[in-house]
Amino acid sequence: MNDEQSRDLYDRALSVMPGGVNSAVRAAIEPYPFFVRKGDGGHVIDADGNRYIDWVMGLGPLLLGHDLPESVRAGIQRNASEGPMYGAPSEIEVDLAEFVVRHVPSVEKIRFVNSGTEATTSAVRLARGYTGRNKIVVMQGGYHGAQESTLVEGDADDPAPSSAGIPQSFAEHTLPVPFNDEAAVREVFEEHGDDIAAVLTEPILGNRGIVYPEDGYHEFLREITDEHGALLIFDEVITGFRVGGLGCAQSEFGVTPDLTTFGKIVGGGFPVGAIGGRAEIIEQFAPSGPVFQAGTFSGHPVTMAAGLETLQFAAENGVYDHVNGLGEQLRSGLTEILADQAPSYTVTGTDSMFKVIFTRDGPGANSLEEQCSSGCRQRPACPRYDTCPKNGADVAAAETDRWRRIFWGQMKDQGVFLSQNQFECQFVSYAHTDEDVEKTLEAYKEAL
Ligand SMILES: Cc1ncc(COP(=O)(O)O)c(C=O)c1O
Repeated sequence: MNDEQSRDLYDRALSVMPGGVNSAVRAAIEPYPFFVRKGDGGHVIDADGNRYIDWVMGLGPLLLGHDLPESVRAGIQRNASEGPMYGAPSEIEVDLAEFVVRHVPSVEKIRFVNSGTEATTSAVRLARGYTGRNKIVVMQGGYHGAQESTLVEGDADDPAPSSAGIPQSFAEHTLPVPFNDEAAVREVFEEHGDDIAAVLTEPILGNRGIVYPEDGYHEFLREITDEHGALLIFDEVITGFRVGGLGCAQSEFGVTPDLTTFGKIVGGGFPVGAIGGRAEIIEQFAPSGPVFQAGTFSGHPVTMAAGLETLQFAAENGVYDHVNGLGEQLRSGLTEILADQAPSYTVTGTDSMFKVIFTRDGPGANSLEEQCSSGCRQRPACPRYDTCPKNGADVAAAETDRWRRIFWGQMKDQGVFLSQNQFECQFVSYAHTDEDVEKTLEAYKEAL
């Protein structure tokens, strides 16, 4: 596979951009990332003309793939050519807000911002402002963007910044606990209950492999936060409008958080974030309340149009049936391949998300009949239950180097673009086809 153009572009980029990229994870590909020239349906074509089946899909926003339907294109072009922005409100912001309020159970009011990071930063500030408390409980290995309150590692007794540039005094207000561990959450509430403003979690860990919640875990979080007067925040930047269709993951799990953060799909491929929730809480944002929040580009008309037209298209065209059906085919196909070739590995994901975690231990090839057939569901009756990843640390303990340094390149050489490491999840789009799934499964068979 020729990659001269990508290499030259990376060489140029290294001279003018830190690490040659504008977002850290893009440089995880070694020795250098391929540069994308353009998208085409469910595929991307790189600067050297190589074509790949694209399961990265912009790291999640592209529910419809790279070829936008006419209605989405028209909405974007109309709003781009008529302004493109004003520093004053426009109708399209109200239209998208009404759509989200209509479909997402927890959202009575919403504030649009420009990224998932901005959404979680504002949600944390809002939770602190609303409750008058300081501490935030987060899940180890969960990701909530590049923000000070959540770039924290360690455990609740000894939290520390996970990035240079963050004061220890910030990290002290963050309490990391393992996902799926009720006892750890109980413990932090026992110790700090009066000062916990919120529990912030992805409904499904989507940035540390894909880890599904154990049955009852979200109900437990709902109860314990209610009991202690803390808020429950679901970070649905990944799962929003992907898992559970237009009702998002919260509708799938039947648990209603106080606040929800959005990003990715709700902007239809343009920069976006949003914080939705109970009206009484969202009203605490300026100008109706005392929690400052503002942004020059917030509610940008082009983004709002792309988001609204994307979601409307999804509502009217069976998009979720298509992407979830292909997701199911991928996960069940992978389950069969692994049973044969790598029985210790775990297939994870749900709806249109999928991943293979290179877990080191499994139950043994001849006891796999009763296993989850389409992605790990944390079922106690599954023979994998004792060895499947239950939290971020379990995923990190899998064969992360083999995944990134060997397996990823073998898939790329066969024309399949997977996310850059074992941690980021992969996405099916409306543009993907049965043929893409078949070719991808063949490539897995070859590479594993
Ligand atoms: C769950 C979650 N929250 C927040 C973010 C941050 O979003 P953004 O990259 O748009 O700032 C991400 C990004 O992938 C995410 O996956």
